[in-house]
Amino acid sequence: MEVHRRLLTEHAPYAGARAALENKAFAYEKGHERTTRAGVTLIQVVVHVVHQNGAQNIDDAQVASQIEALNRDYRKTNTDVSGVPAVWQALAADCDIEFQLATTDPSGAPTNGITRTQTATASFGTDDAVKSTATGGQDPWPTDRYLNLWSCELGGGLLGYAQFPGGPAATDGVVILHSAFGTSGTATAPFDMGRTATHEVGHWLNLFHIWGDDGTACNGTDFVADTPNQGGPNFGKPNFPRVTCNNAPDGDMFMNYMDYVDDAAMFMFTEGQLARMNATLDGPRASFLSA
Ligand code: ARG
Ligand code: ZN
Ligand code: CA
Repeated sequence: MEVHRRLLTEHAPYAGARAALENKAFAYEKGHERTTRAGVTLIQVVVHVVHQNGAQNIDDAQVASQIEALNRDYRKTNTDVSGVPAVWQALAADCDIEFQLATTDPSGAPTNGITRTQTATASFGTDDAVKSTATGGQDPWPTDRYLNLWSCELGGGLLGYAQFPGGPAATDGVVILHSAFGTSGTATAPFDMGRTATHEVGHWLNLFHIWGDDGTACNGTDFVADTPNQGGPNFGKPNFPRVTCNNAPDGDMFMNYMDYVDDAAMFMFTEGQLARMNATLDGPRASFLSA
């Protein structure tokens, strides 16, 4: 949200692009318009490992483990989806989106879909320095054809951050703390199930936080009808039901990927959230449908 607010003031086309996409998302979410996307959409991914040698230089297996986690979560093949409370089971969505490490680089040459960059920067923040070679990071591959993921050291307790659709191409993508990246290697509990990327890619596909980004008030919205109104973010491993904002008896859908709970406590997107993702894939990210 910090990056979102910055782009609203710094990047002139952003506000207009956001408004256009929100109109489209509204139509999809209401069922007035529906996707023409058929079957599974395969997204090509490049992972930029930005490191100071040592542990930050995560191995190929850890990178692969992140892609596998994304595929489980976006295809609803994660076994823990069985933990969704009975009242919401029917809402849990197979998003029909799969991810693959790129096999061809921007110039057409074979690649393993991983770049490795040694940096002098001890720790990155939300200023996007990691996304540019000139500032100690690595430039993205064309952001209309590749989902760019950066793995690095992040400061301030940040697990990751994303750019919503409609922002500048040069910084489009998702940044993840290396120890919250994937499920092996440096991945550390309770953020070792690859779900920081699941959450951040949700933002990249235009999902908002489930509590509506209004602090802990009850008037924010994620613009999704099938996620209950909830106060603020949840952390750790809450017990069901957790009632806020008069949302009894079922309470917060804290097991949603767009809350802030531990990796082991989040295991669903809803059909309403999928409608918003579809609007994005038919809209500003339509280049991925033909890539
Ligand atoms: N941007 C959020 C943060 O840095 C990501 C939270 C992801 N949550 C998780 N359980 N992996 O806090
Ligand atoms: Zn978030
Ligand atoms: Ca709220």
